[in-house]
Amino acid sequence: MTSLWLFLLILLPLLGEADGAWNQRQIRKKIHQLREIQNFKSFYSRIGLPKGAPSYVPPVEGFLTQPLDHFNRRNNATYKQRYWVNEEFWQRPGGPVFLYIGGESSESEYSVLAGEHVELAQKHRALLVSLEHRYYGASINPDGLTLEAIRFLSSQQALADLASFHLFISQKYNLTRNNTWICFGGSYPGSLSAWFRLKFPHLVYAAVASSAPVRAELDFTDYNKVVAQSLSDAVIGGSAKCLDRVRESFRVVDSVLQTGNVTQLEKDFFSCAPLHGPDDYTEFVSNLADIFMGAVQYNMESAGCDVRKICQSMISAKSAYEGLRIVNSMHIEFIGLKCVENSHEETLSDLRNTELSPTGVGERQWYYQTCTEFGYYQTCEVSSCPFSPLLTLNSQLDLCTQVFQIPTTSVRQSVQFTNEFYGADHPKSSRIIFVNGDVDPWHALSVLKNESRSEIAIFINGTAHCANMGPSRPTDPLSLQKAREEIADKISSWLQSAQLAV
Ligand SMILES: *[C@@H]1O[C@H](CO)[C@@H](O)[C@H](O)[C@H]1NC(C)=O
Ligand SMILES: *[C@@H]1O[C@H](CO)[C@@H](O)[C@H](O)[C@H]1NC(C)=O
Ligand SMILES: *[C@@H]1O[C@H](CO)[C@@H](O)[C@H](O)[C@H]1NC(C)=O
Ligand SMILES: *[C@@H]1O[C@H](CO)[C@@H](O)[C@H](O)[C@H]1NC(C)=O
Ligand SMILES: *[C@@H]1O[C@H](CO)[C@@H](O)[C@H](O)[C@H]1NC(C)=O
Ligand SMILES: *[C@@H]1O[C@H](CO)[C@@H](O)[C@H](O)[C@H]1NC(C)=O
Repeated sequence: MTSLWLFLLILLPLLGEADGAWNQRQIRKKIHQLREIQNFKSFYSRIGLPKGAPSYVPPVEGFLTQPLDHFNRRNNATYKQRYWVNEEFWQRPGGPVFLYIGGESSESEYSVLAGEHVELAQKHRALLVSLEHRYYGASINPDGLTLEAIRFLSSQQALADLASFHLFISQKYNLTRNNTWICFGGSYPGSLSAWFRLKFPHLVYAAVASSAPVRAELDFTDYNKVVAQSLSDAVIGGSAKCLDRVRESFRVVDSVLQTGNVTQLEKDFFSCAPLHGPDDYTEFVSNLADIFMGAVQYNMESAGCDVRKICQSMISAKSAYEGLRIVNSMHIEFIGLKCVENSHEETLSDLRNTELSPTGVGERQWYYQTCTEFGYYQTCEVSSCPFSPLLTLNSQLDLCTQVFQIPTTSVRQSVQFTNEFYGADHPKSSRIIFVNGDVDPWHALSVLKNESRSEIAIFINGTAHCANMGPSRPTDPLSLQKAREEIADKISSWLQSAQLAV
């Protein structure tokens, strides 16, 4: 058992998208750890400890050589892309193929071992395959993060990778048109899942897109609008009072930053180093806001820092400022930090770092994708936002220029083009399920209403980011259980219709 846990700690891949703020990275790291533990438990409860059921064959991990640039075959450069295959449930030779799409982090073998798609694969006797996204995890060349090399990172190249992976797997497993493919993904890979169906309808019969922000948006002010709604949502332990207190606490901090004793702030909020000027002030308030954004986005995934607990602390404290101080301390303890890194120079040098890290979120890569495709900057410049107005669009766009030499006009145009290219939140496709939680801020960029008879939206009451993707649990709220059933029913009926069509 101990060695299994050690093994798990080595994996530690991360998930979820966000801006460059330091605290958000810590939160994502923690959440992913918790999700991996959940997957691990679910997997081993199915297989049985310690060595597994006799029929169990461990998943295959492999590498596929891909063109670095699918759109210019005169460029013969390649890279190796990592994938996994789990044949455990597959009914040869005609059983369906369920594809799990990787995103802005390293993936692990759990991508074919646990989760909603694995439960569905068991039911439908599907071959499970997953593909790590190019430029993340181990799917990158040693020089991949240089300005020169990172050019070939894009969602379009990633979709072409998926097409080429489809061919590779079809050849390797002797698949025919009788093998119906269904793809799955959550968050950015949720968008890829919808787009793979949209752009390659002959390769994949249906798609599940969980918490997929399919509409690119430069200035994502609605993110914090939903965070504010969720902080006052009684269903998850929020209240109007809580939201007021949060708003008040940031007003106090802002006024101290303008005219008060900043040294006191550093001390009260465990800053690793003194704050040097306006850029560090922005990092500071951004790190504080991240705690609330994280609690909302991942509500209920972490018993330590959910909306209910944070709101209780904010309300019961003797002042709003004191509440914020307590919430920050709780957060530090929950993540296991000693202090909070508020140095803007540090953020810049992290994003400029071209050394590879084989596990975790690819921060530099993901920031590059926001600058070249999606924007998604979580700003706070409108009055509905409860946090500090120092969280400006310009402060985030500046990073595109400073780190990648990409000017603001270019970011703007790229975001527009992405929406033109994929159809934003009105994709013209078929057989896609868009699943969202009303607590999750990312739902604001997804498809929330049925687009057509077979582009279906499921909007779950009271759940956060990608809640349906994990293994089902007895503690799932009723609304989530119902959503899982709806997804399963749709998949069953689509698989049936695919068989009739063959
Ligand atoms: C790629 O093409 C160049 C010439 O265009 C050639 O020199 C090189 O050997 C080729 N590399 C591989 C791996 O084929
Ligand atoms: C695919 O077919 C070939 C030739 O019929 C056979 O040798 C091979 O074992 C098959 N592969 C799989 C994975 O079934
Ligand atoms: C698909 O399955 C049907 C029925 O089992 C079979 O007759 C047909 O040859 C298969 N098609 C392909 C392309 O394998
Ligand atoms: C500011 O706060 C620090 C830390 O609590 C304290 O040592 C210092 O005396 C304060 N300065 C002023 C001017 O109040
Ligand atoms: C969306 O489509 C699903 C499945 O066809 C259906 O059950 C549901 O009622 C539709 N929702 C709306 C709001 O029309
Ligand atoms: C969500 O669920 C709560 C109970 O848990 C209920 O009070 C509320 O009306 C529901 N909201 C919607 C939009 O269905």
